[in-house]
Amino acid sequence: MTSKSSFKYFENTNLIPFGWSGSGKPSLATTGNLSEYLHSLKRAVFFLEKDQNFLLANEGNPTAPDGDFNLLAFSLPSVPEDLGDPGFKKQYGLKYALYAGAMANGIASEDLVIALGRAGFMGSFGAGGLLPARVEQAILKIQSELLDKPYLFNLINSPFEPALEQQTCELYLKHGIKVIEASAYLTLTSSLIRYRAAGLLKLADGSIQISNRIIAKVSRKEVASKFLQPASEEVLKQLVADGMITEEQVKLARLVPMADDITVEADSGGHTDNRPLVGILPAIIKLRDTLQEKHHFAQPVRVGAAGGIGTPASALAAFMMGAAYVATGSVNQSCVESGSSEHTRNLLAQMESTDVAMAPASDMFEMGVKVQVLKRGTMFAMRSQKLYEIYQRYESIDDIPAPEREKLESTVFQKNLDEIWEECIRFFTERDPRQIERAMNNPKDKMALIFRWYLGLSSRWSNCGEKGREMDYQIWTGPSMGAFNDWVRGTYLEACGNRRAADVSLQLLTGAAYLLRIRILESQGLRFGSEIREFIPTQV
Ligand SMILES: Cc1cc2nc3c(=O)[nH]c(=O)nc-3n(C[C@H](O)[C@H](O)[C@H](O)COP(=O)(O)O)c2cc1C
Repeated sequence: MTSKSSFKYFENTNLIPFGWSGSGKPSLATTGNLSEYLHSLKRAVFFLEKDQNFLLANEGNPTAPDGDFNLLAFSLPSVPEDLGDPGFKKQYGLKYALYAGAMANGIASEDLVIALGRAGFMGSFGAGGLLPARVEQAILKIQSELLDKPYLFNLINSPFEPALEQQTCELYLKHGIKVIEASAYLTLTSSLIRYRAAGLLKLADGSIQISNRIIAKVSRKEVASKFLQPASEEVLKQLVADGMITEEQVKLARLVPMADDITVEADSGGHTDNRPLVGILPAIIKLRDTLQEKHHFAQPVRVGAAGGIGTPASALAAFMMGAAYVATGSVNQSCVESGSSEHTRNLLAQMESTDVAMAPASDMFEMGVKVQVLKRGTMFAMRSQKLYEIYQRYESIDDIPAPEREKLESTVFQKNLDEIWEECIRFFTERDPRQIERAMNNPKDKMALIFRWYLGLSSRWSNCGEKGREMDYQIWTGPSMGAFNDWVRGTYLEACGNRRAADVSLQLLTGAAYLLRIRILESQGLRFGSEIREFIPTQV
């Protein structure tokens, strides 16, 4: 083992001996120039030895062992553009294999999607929870700004509001939205299948043109397998009968998988199965391979990774496990373009990875479904959990003992529950009157609607920065946000006012490309000091 200021060289017995020759003169390795050579990602870097001296070069060629120098280790250029599957980037017109996942209620805002699309990434507009008129507004704005640059829209499965999903899907077809991020599906709905099939066309050379692309976000193998195969025959036939698609499109739909890409989502902000990426990503890649063997699709489905991507190391880990691309979420919410309030972005910028908790989800409250939220600087996680416990314990609002009800009214709701019920009636009469009918007939359903008033508004308060309600903000986030904060502490990105989504994305991938270089060199026997092993973002 030989040691030199910031790196050590361990004889690597597996290495084939190489010499090196080059036109430029190698420099003696010093603490100062080591970092510079390593960070010049567009150039190769060679670690050389001559007469017991360590030298560095960034141009030259490996040669036979009797060259001018002994070659100890080298790395080819390693740039962020090269990470991920070239097919993914080509398909969507991207420079980088990274997209920002949807964040409901427009948290993944028009500005976020536009900023990313202009910078060689793409963003998924957070259409979940928004009414069609608001989504249409976003479509018009994004299309007029981005023109042919990349973007996508979220289509979220809404088992309790199927009409909303259908209307959103129709909007996407009407406005020619070419890529959607489909999420929260357990079974594939006719709206989703219609979107896919309606974009199929047979070309003169016999190949199939797919105009409506789907990136499906899943966290379970059984759901992934539905997207990795053609659409259900039964639904396709019904769509023809309803005049939504043609017979020809049914034939073509049998030959293509439901999705072009599958984003495997591990432990993330918001709705999550809290799965570790190291387990679920390889399992779904293997499933893709098995189903591709069976179906022989012209274009195999690509598999990407999301959930926990908040540092260069986590992005690189995903690529090393075979992810075609990565998708981020939590980190984008703390960026200036997000639809969250300044107060929320500040809280996010201060959180640690462990400052998260699972809390009842507003959309599937009765079923006990949970979402991952911030638990520092807000009491939402605790208060919503309390509501869920009360919901489980009692059959109706009237069963709640008076002292408990008063406490709820004074702390959580800050309103009388009768007044809240009146507000629920007004809200759902416009949006979905069946919910009111159901609640009128079932006191437990009525209690759920009243409790969902709090769960629904708390995320709106977080987005609009409702004064006096800070302790009730419902802020969806995952541990990746804390990991990101750790990484950028002490740099210009520590302040959330400096966090711009495209810059954050580029820093993540540049860091991943840098760490890839370090890992490659380590595999050849080099070991670096901690100041070299880290990628510190610097403002460009
Ligand atoms: C605030 C917030 C809201 C989200 N809303 C949605 C949504 O409406 N639809 C969706 O498909 N995913 C949603 N997600 C998930 C993200 O698109 C992304 O897949 C996830 O955040 C990635 O994991 P990470 O949070 O660890 O980065 C949301 C995530 C966050 C943090």
